[in-house]
Formats: sequence, structure tokens, C-alpha cells
Amino acid sequence: MSDTIVSPAQSAEPGEAKAPDSARRALPLSVKPADKANSRKIFIKTYGCQMNVYDSLRMADVMAPEGYSEVGTPEEADMVILNTCHIREKAAEKVYSELGRLRVLKDEKKTRGEDMMIGVAGCVAQAEGAEMRRREPTVDFVVGPQNYHRMPAMIDKMRETGQRIVDTEFPIEDKFETLPAPQKRLTLARGPAAFLTVQEGCDKFCTFCVVPYTRGGEYSRPVARILDEARALVDAGVREVTLLGQNVNAYHGEAAGGGSATLGALVAELAQINGLDRIRYITSHPRDMDDELIEAHAHIAKLMPYLHLPVQSGSDRILEAMNRQHTAERYHEIIARIRKARPDFAMSSDFIVGFPGESDADFEDTLALIETVGFAQAYSFKYSPRPGTPAATHDEQVHEAVKAERLQRLQTLVSGQQLAFNQSCTGRVLPVLFDRRGRDRHQLVGRSPYLQSVHINEAPDSLFGTIANVHIEGGFQNSLKGRLVADEIATA
Ligand code: SAH
Ligand code: SF4
Ligand code: F3S
Repeated sequence: MSDTIVSPAQSAEPGEAKAPDSARRALPLSVKPADKANSRKIFIKTYGCQMNVYDSLRMADVMAPEGYSEVGTPEEADMVILNTCHIREKAAEKVYSELGRLRVLKDEKKTRGEDMMIGVAGCVAQAEGAEMRRREPTVDFVVGPQNYHRMPAMIDKMRETGQRIVDTEFPIEDKFETLPAPQKRLTLARGPAAFLTVQEGCDKFCTFCVVPYTRGGEYSRPVARILDEARALVDAGVREVTLLGQNVNAYHGEAAGGGSATLGALVAELAQINGLDRIRYITSHPRDMDDELIEAHAHIAKLMPYLHLPVQSGSDRILEAMNRQHTAERYHEIIARIRKARPDFAMSSDFIVGFPGESDADFEDTLALIETVGFAQAYSFKYSPRPGTPAATHDEQVHEAVKAERLQRLQTLVSGQQLAFNQSCTGRVLPVLFDRRGRDRHQLVGRSPYLQSVHINEAPDSLFGTIANVHIEGGFQNSLKGRLVADEIATA
């Protein structure tokens, strides 16, 4: 079984940020339009975690005033940006194979007298910087996750000087302060569920992980700025906000009245916004699951009863080697407290198999933890050595075949739990936020409070973007099906 199953850390793979095509002919790169009005086309391909999905949307927002409208394929575009992920080796390799394909397309366009600019953003850009441009000369610019607000100025400079640019310095200015507010038109096109980054970076330095190196140290946005962005999203029709951060529950942003606010306090403020019906957050670390956040789950109905809390391993020995700074017992304690606060809570997690030194007994401890907790969903990966991280040079690397066998056993166990959880929803009435159209035009798809995809047939179009009660008639491996209970709008 492959280790690239869809995960919160890669749910966008190989997602694309799309928007309606303006259907105008692309201008050659060297021509700067006089009025900057929708004359250029941009294609952004997103790899990696939700933070990258958010960043890709914000890149589109930054480029919109420059006359760029989004298109769905690189063929239609005169600027292509790959927003990349460095978390595992395969994720980084995919970027280079995509760049190879883009090089061919760029050459073809050139023979037709058209120009195409290629930019690389995200965590591979941050990790490799100028090296990336050397390895793939077709790349015109490389921009780190903290610098994309500077793209319009960079591109102007490139046009003026003809030079290619690498911008991966951690800037003094705060990118969030310079990003445009969410625009109604663009937000509407993106549907009723939105991401909102509240925290970035990580100071924890788990021994397997590149994030502290690619995203830098922990930073939390001030509460007031987050509330402004959430209100703008709600004004544009958003009903559900997922707060994002590499360590979202370590959030400690500046509070409105001074001092700092915890994530629990931030959620309480957001819950006051009329029209915002659902709040989620991802990704949390067990060490930062504080009382205020657990309490928030007991008292704030808008906070969804679903938590993605990566544990990585069930063995204390391996948890210590990973520098996770908690034990398996502590993880069980947290879950017991959460389930006490809200008994219908559904859990999700990430697991790494084959971390250096992981013995059969360590792996059995991980399976035992899974058996005890019972997950509604889980994401699992073979350990992938990442250059520059401490575990990569550990001399007890686990053999590839052992990793593959462990991954398969673990995935069989969690798949069974996921199916059982989905089947257990049959007969229940769940509030569903309809955020996607189904394959056939009479079908709508939405999300249950537990993040399950729920399909209904013969759905009126007016339901899109609303929350309605659904009687669940069947639970499958990856989705539920149901029938509308009543057409009244329910609050989740
Ligand atoms: N901040 C989150 C995880 C972010 S990375 C946390 O602390 O849990 C997302 C997931 O990718 C991790 O939970 C881990 O399971 C996986 N991952 C990270 N580095 C990895 C590596 N080197 N090899 C395999 N999986 C890895
Ligand atoms: Fe990576 Fe650990 Fe930080 Fe998560 S907490 S982003 S796994 S270093
Ligand atoms: Fe990947 Fe960077 Fe996210 S490495 S998982 S895109 S923080």
C-alpha cells in the first residue's frame, strides 16, 4: 500500500486552486497591460497541507489586482506557480517531475511566440532556494511561504531587469498585515467552508520533521486581525471556518484587551460572530491540548466535535526518540477528558511507521493505542528521512519492506475503525453543510460535524452553502449517504 493516502498534511495533493476562466487570450509576458484588468491568467497547483491550500488562495488574492485571473490548467496560463511540500521525500520529488512537464510546455509556448512564467512557492522553495533554480533552470522565481505577499513587486522587478529572483528570507514585515482582505467575489466562488491561518511555524523540532526549518519559528496572529478576516469571510457567505496552524493549539495571539489569548479564547470570540455556524481547527499537538480548549468543546456548540490530534506512535521509547515530549498514557488521558467534555467526539490522528529504531514491540504498542482509542479517521506514513533532521542520520534505519508491512497492518486496522464509525452513523440525523456538487447534477455533497462526506440525491440547488438535517441511510469506507429530513436550516 502506498504511503501517499490523502491526509490533512497533503489533502490538497494534487489539488488546484481554481476560479472561473476569463476566456481572454493570454498576453505575452513582456507586455504590461495598461489597465491590469483580468488580462492575464494564473494557474496555481497546491501540494501539502491546508496551510498551503490557504497560501495558494491568498497568492491568487495578491495577484488578482495585478490583472491575473485563475485558470484550471497550465496550458491556459501565462503564469504557473507550484506551491510545494517538503514533508516527505516523495512530496518533494513530485515537484521536480512536474517542473519537467512544465519545461516542455513552456518550450512549446515559446515556439508559438507565447511566454509562460514559472514560479515555485512553499516549503520546497524555502528549503532549496537558489539550488532549486540551478537544478531546474526553467524556474523564473522561487518564493518562500513567508514572502508571497511580495510577488507583485518581485514580478515587476523581474520584468524590468530580466533577472530571475529567489526570495526565501524571513522578512521583517508581517505578510498577514500586507495581504488583501478576502474579496467577496473570490470568496463566494470558493464555497461556504473556508480556511483561516491563525498560527504559523513550529518550535518543537520533532526529530523527523522539516517544518521548523521550512516555516520558521512559531508565530500567532493577533485576535483582532483574525476576527476581521472571519467577518469578511462570513459577509461573503462562509458558514464554516477551519483555523489553521502547524501547531494551532499552541496559538497565543495578542488579545483585544492586551495580553495573549489561547486557542480556546479565540474560538469563544469567533463563536460570537453571527452567521458563522461552525468552527474547526487543525493541526493540534498533544502537548498543547489545554483545559481552556477542552472546556470550549463542552460549552461552544459551534465548535465541531472532531479533533485531529497526531500521536505518531504508541511506544513511549519511540515518542521520546521523536522528541514528542509526551507519553502514550498522556495521550489517552487527553482523549478521556475530551470525551468527557463532549461524549460524541470523533478522533483522527497521524502515524509514522518505521521510525529509526522502531522494533516489532514498539509497533505493537502503536496498534494497541489505535485499538484503545478507536479512530474515525487516521493518516499513516512510512518514515521518510529528511535531510537536515536529526532522525535522518540515525544508524538504525528500518528496512523498506518492514515499513511497508507495518503500514499495511496499521492501515487495515484504522480502515476497519473508520468503516465501523461511518456505519454506526446509520439511522442518525446529522446536520450537514453542503459545500460541493456531486458527480451527477442532482447530487449535493456536504460535511457532517465529524468531517465525513455526506451525499444526498435529488437535492435542490438552493441547499448549496446551507446547513440542513440529513437522515443517514448508509455508511461506507469514505462517505455517508442520506436523505434530507426537512428543508429547514439547522444549526450544527
Ligand atoms: N504539526 C503536526 C504535523 C505536521 S506534519 C504535528 O505535530 O503532529 C504532518 C504529518 O506528516 C505528521 O503528523 C507526520 O505524521 C507526517 N510526517 C512528518 N514528517 C515525516 C517524515 N519525515 N516521514 C514520514 N512522515 C512524516
Ligand atoms: Fe513537525 Fe513536530 Fe512541529 Fe508538528 S510539532 S510541525 S511534527 S516539528
Ligand atoms: Fe508540507 Fe510545508 Fe505543509 S512541508 S505539510 S507544505 S508546512
